[in-house]
Amino acid sequence: MAKITIPAANLEYDCENDTIARAAVRHGLGFPYECNVGSCGNCRFELIEGEVEHRRANPPGLNERDIARKRFLGCQAQPKGDCTIKVSLRDNYKSKHLPRKTEAVLAGIDDLTHDIREFRFNLKQSNLFLPGQYALLSVPGVGGDRAYSMSNVTNLGDEWHFQIKRVPGGEATTSLFDKLKIGDSVGLDGPYGMAYLREDAPRDILCLAGGSGLSPMVSIARGAAASPALKGRSIEFVYGGRSPRDICGESILQLLDGYGERIHYHPAISMPEGAEGWTGHTGFVHDIAEMLFGEKLSQYEVYFAGPPLMSQAVMKMLIKARVPVGQLHFDQFY
Ligand code: FES
Repeated sequence: MAKITIPAANLEYDCENDTIARAAVRHGLGFPYECNVGSCGNCRFELIEGEVEHRRANPPGLNERDIARKRFLGCQAQPKGDCTIKVSLRDNYKSKHLPRKTEAVLAGIDDLTHDIREFRFNLKQSNLFLPGQYALLSVPGVGGDRAYSMSNVTNLGDEWHFQIKRVPGGEATTSLFDKLKIGDSVGLDGPYGMAYLREDAPRDILCLAGGSGLSPMVSIARGAAASPALKGRSIEFVYGGRSPRDICGESILQLLDGYGERIHYHPAISMPEGAEGWTGHTGFVHDIAEMLFGEKLSQYEVYFAGPPLMSQAVMKMLIKARVPVGQLHFDQFY
């Protein structure tokens, strides 16, 4: 067991078989983080005293300058003994539901598209999460954790669902799609993430998703539709893929079924060649959102998730449309 001391905040906490940032979040501290997998760099801290080891070798979230300044990534740094660190804690990074590690048993599987599948797990130890958050899964036989967003909402915390896109040649998704069977277990650590549903935001909701970003946006839409605080708010849901086979047509309507006429679904494809009979939009998610909502964009609480190129284009479009940054919610995984 290592003791982590943050002199500027006048506090210390225990860290056992954990990373410095995750242990802090488990203790209810506002340690900044986002992706949890070593990519975004938001969890950087300075090591004043002690020794740490990164779980992920050469994480992209650190650059040469950081290394020269003895900076490490909180989500990857595991202490080798007691450590003293410098980091600015912030209240907005405090978790409402503290992340916990548990075992999760695969209880059900459904195909949503040719390469997106919903995996439904039962947790050995229940825990709650907010719509839009994610968990770290450790899949048997695969080194390290992978971040996947939940797609459901839960009042009991015993069932967590994930809509996961197969990554061609990807070790974790190959194992999940081709090897994991009903009744098998994975390690689950969560919930994490800041791009959760803001129930106190008095605006209509816009969800923009592409590829694997489907899962958290479905959770946000489900959470918003079920929230008494958001009663009467409309939910616009744009989902983009390359061709019709990437799009959950009828099945997404079933996923969002039961929430009445407040949800409007706008499917879009970016490669219309050969897509005879396609009746949805044609174009990229950011262009479709701009076309559909134009000057009204700043009136929405906007949530988005998807591949890096899509997320970057969406962000650029929303900034150009002068949507206040406080109304934008996404977790940076790149
Ligand atoms: Fe640690 Fe992203 S690099 S949270």
